Amino acid sequence: MCGITGYIGYKNADKVLFDCLKRLEYRGYDSCGIALVQSDGIKVIKDTCRVKELEAKHKKVNSKIGIGHTRWATCGEPTAANAHPHSSCGDKVAVVHNGTLDQFIPLKEDLINKGHVFKSETDTEIIPHLIEENMKTMSADDAVKKALGTIQGAFAVAAIVQNENKLYVGKVGCPLVIGVGDSECYVASDSSALSKYTNRFIYLKDHDTAVLTPDSIKLFRNGKETEPEIELLDKNLNDAELHGYPHFMLKEIHEEPRVITTTIDDLDDLATLLATIDKDLGGIRMIKTLACGSSYYASLMMRYLAPQILGIPTFAELGSEYCSLTKGQKGTLAIAISQSGETADTIKAAKAAKANGYKLMAITNVKNSQLARAADYVWTTKAGPEVSVAATKTVLSQIAALYSLILAHPSLSKLNKEDAMDTFRKLPDQINKIFENVDSIISVASYLADFKDAIYIARGLNYPIALEGALKLKEISYIHGEGYAAGELKHGPFALLGKEVPVIAIVSHDENYDSLVTNLREVKTRQAPLIAISEENDLTISNLADYVITVPHTKPILSPILNLVVVQLLAYYTAVKKGNPVDFPRNLAKTVTVE
Ligand code: M6R
Repeated sequence: MCGITGYIGYKNADKVLFDCLKRLEYRGYDSCGIALVQSDGIKVIKDTCRVKELEAKHKKVNSKIGIGHTRWATCGEPTAANAHPHSSCGDKVAVVHNGTLDQFIPLKEDLINKGHVFKSETDTEIIPHLIEENMKTMSADDAVKKALGTIQGAFAVAAIVQNENKLYVGKVGCPLVIGVGDSECYVASDSSALSKYTNRFIYLKDHDTAVLTPDSIKLFRNGKETEPEIELLDKNLNDAELHGYPHFMLKEIHEEPRVITTTIDDLDDLATLLATIDKDLGGIRMIKTLACGSSYYASLMMRYLAPQILGIPTFAELGSEYCSLTKGQKGTLAIAISQSGETADTIKAAKAAKANGYKLMAITNVKNSQLARAADYVWTTKAGPEVSVAATKTVLSQIAALYSLILAHPSLSKLNKEDAMDTFRKLPDQINKIFENVDSIISVASYLADFKDAIYIARGLNYPIALEGALKLKEISYIHGEGYAAGELKHGPFALLGKEVPVIAIVSHDENYDSLVTNLREVKTRQAPLIAISEENDLTISNLADYVITVPHTKPILSPILNLVVVQLLAYYTAVKKGNPVDFPRNLAKTVTVE
């Protein structure tokens, strides 16, 4: 959580920093700030507001070096004093920090005893004071390096020091990337925040520190100066602009047809990776998935697909609840799924599984993420950067990747594979059809917006989509939504049903259809408004439901993908109708780097 940025070069630093911070706001947005090196000292401006409001208050400053921060409070409430940057006495050193420091109290007490005065409740504030203290006996470069070696915990840090035309950075356990320009360097928590400025990036590893000037990058790895490796990123895959859409969430949903096409294009590479895994494991005999939030709901798909189609027992575990009690046996594979690859709970579970003898595969949208680095095998979903806090195209890309794993498995017969591929290839056009018929979703969203609660139900493969639909609804429309396996309704939730609690049913046209229709009749008997997401021309459903959102016909096994798009759009338009801040819902951050 929290986004950090930095700039050194020939441009006005304040303009660049505000611009990058706006792209990093998905990481936290309860307060923000920037610090700039000026001839007469360091100027800090910060407040509990959004970046564009801070920018409006700020009077332009002629400075070419600065750092910036957008916060999701962990240590200390969201107040102006706790907002970053934090500075030392007399603002000689300023620091921005993403992460949480362990055991900082003794260090703080020691600094107080040495005469340092603290202005905030944050753990971060010890860093500028430590640097300043170190500078009494050494150069600024050494002082920063020593301070970053002293602090413990997870951090990505950028620092500036008065009278030094340098930008200092370092990291352990939190992401940090340097963007390389011509006579300028950028720093950010992720590369997409810098996509407008450069496509050349240096991804820092844990315990790396670097000293940047406009024309040089000194990188220290394990204390030794090391030649930095510059990676070139495809601009299209790093694009984080709105391109005329009112919200990133809508833009990202509209990228979903492209995500399916990309997944299909990569199928041969995935088959090669799977063959390697299969060979290393002597055949996959058991799968354990590890994930949180929407990624967990995506992972639930594997629990249905792998046993049904491949006969491989599969267990889906929440990263935050994983008890690493069972030892991995020969042939057991742990698959950790995370859009960001930085979710603390998922990484912890993945590392525990690995330590327990599981081979670890990571499915992530961020190639150089911590999760990717911890894994034995990595599959990168190429959904492109996702800015909206509510995950949409990345969830679809994870589900598509899991389908691809099934399709790529050597035990699937050629005939079955070809048949499934034909259906898979039709999905992008079918998703576009859903976009063309969005009016019915908008009108249901207008109706839904007046309720306080809603229940999603489904059976079988669409049950994870019911859970995801309910999560999306809570997250951005602030309507209390619950997802249930339809058969479970009568085991308790029935007590809630009535005119005030609409039920949204995802209808699967498979072996569960008849039982689901029975459940829908039971719902109607309790007078709950019924909204059905169903295939066209289903008279039984249109007679039963108060509203029907139709989806194009596909093979039942692939229906979750189309239904996913519908539940995402329904949550989006409900949130829009309520006037909510769709991309930045209250109290949330996109990347959850704390347990
Ligand atoms: O980056 P990850 O996929 O590991 O994130 C997991 C969850 O935090 C995430 O899916 C969260 O639930 C989303 N905000 C849901 O839209």
